[in-house]
Amino acid sequence: MARRERDSLKRSLFKIDRLRRRLLRWYDQNKRDLPWRGSHDPYAIWVSEIMLQQTRVAAVVERYQVFLKRFPSLMSLALAKEDEVLALWSGLGYYRRARMLHKAAQFVAQNYYGSLPKKSEELRELPGIGEYTAAAIASIAHGEPVAVVDGNVERVLSRLAGWDESAKLRRRIGELAALMVDPERPGDFNQAMMELGAMVCLPRSPRCTECPVAIDCNTRGEHKTQKRAPMKSVAIAHALSVRTSVRKSERDRGGREVLLEHRPTTECIMPGMWELPQLIEAEVPSEELRMTVRHAIMQTNYYVRIRTVFEDDVARLTLAKGERRWVAFGEAREMALTGLARKVLTRAHLLSTAPLDMIAPAREEDLI
Ligand code: ADE
Repeated sequence: MARRERDSLKRSLFKIDRLRRRLLRWYDQNKRDLPWRGSHDPYAIWVSEIMLQQTRVAAVVERYQVFLKRFPSLMSLALAKEDEVLALWSGLGYYRRARMLHKAAQFVAQNYYGSLPKKSEELRELPGIGEYTAAAIASIAHGEPVAVVDGNVERVLSRLAGWDESAKLRRRIGELAALMVDPERPGDFNQAMMELGAMVCLPRSPRCTECPVAIDCNTRGEHKTQKRAPMKSVAIAHALSVRTSVRKSERDRGGREVLLEHRPTTECIMPGMWELPQLIEAEVPSEELRMTVRHAIMQTNYYVRIRTVFEDDVARLTLAKGERRWVAFGEAREMALTGLARKVLTRAHLLSTAPLDMIAPAREEDLI
């Protein structure tokens, strides 16, 4: 190797080493105290990483603890009914993740005696575990020096390197991430990169003055980031129909029931989950309007009007999509409700006897 090349390589290695040290020091001092941090249990890490995909950390913190309390081990998850897994996932959205997690747990129970394989390559063979999740589990639980590249890490690295969007960017970023991952503390390094993207190197207004690696950044706030696609707005309405139970045992206890509808298993979103029947008309007369909530699913903001509907009017006012059932409130809270249905029933205090940790937090912006 020529002297010039050797010097340039040395400088790059020095920079990488400096970046690792600065990033890890910042992480040690500033990391958020999250319930999955500090755990080396591969199953618990797996659950946290699946929940964290496309979901706010605050929402995950709550659901994660309830989920792990009910399913503390991979075997307990494998043995559960899918409905119960979905019920505990409710509020997190993207229910396909819960189904895949459950299926993969059953696969591991049957083929690996209930223990997740250790190597990222073997993990990637499992259903629902891609490159990202395999690298996260292997690096955090077992210290394998493999890089995790999620959307946050991609943004951090493309800004550090000063690379613009291009078709080849993903591959180059993957190579850079693999070069940078700290061989001594790969799990912490990966989490530090994600944390930096979540807390400092923000998509629209990066906080470069707080950045521990600004010294090595080629763009420092000047990097263009792709604009987010604008959200669509859709107005819909659902029926909230409540009656006193017709079952004598329930009625004597003052039991009330709510009408729920089963989404057909052929639906592409939220198949098999329970929701409030949808009204034919999105407009609701003001005297019948019980509440309006905003509910975001992917690129769409749903502005949802909830109409109080008497039992006798349900058939006339609603679209019939699937099987319907009158369900006692106590039973409804244990069912695989859609996030929207759980939100509405909680706000209407119809699930109020549910344990507190089953109730999704009310967000001001959702209440209109
Ligand atoms: N996003 C996904 N996984 C994460 C983790 N382990 N730490 C921080 N942010 C994350």
